[in-house]
Amino acid sequence: MFTEPDRLDITRSTTGHLGFGHGPHFCLGASIARAQAEIALGALLKRYPELAFAAEPKRNCDGGTWRLAALPVRLTG
Ligand code: HEM
Repeated sequence: MFTEPDRLDITRSTTGHLGFGHGPHFCLGASIARAQAEIALGALLKRYPELAFAAEPKRNCDGGTWRLAALPVRLTG
């Protein structure tokens, strides 16, 4: 999906979906990926307890699904 996928680049374009797929090719790693996200977000909130919205979240209307386009945050109060 992305060039240099091993490089963390929070500025890269996120055009295209990052879901776990559908049907017979549904991601086999979905459970571990969800666990990793939960652990990472927990660590982020522990490290930055003052983490707060920096602006209103932006949402994309996506035919009945609720999808975030942007979630601006600030790390300190
Ligand atoms: C946030 C992390 C991840 C995302 C967004 C993701 C996304 C996806 C998507 C979209 C597909 C379907 C591809 C297709 O339709 O051809 C897929 C398939 C697959 N994923 Fe993941 N994945 C993630 C993490 C992982 C992890 C951690 C593992 C292994 C430990 C894994 C193993 C697989 C495998 C084996 C398939 C192929 C399933 C099949 O073709 O039957 N994924 N993943």
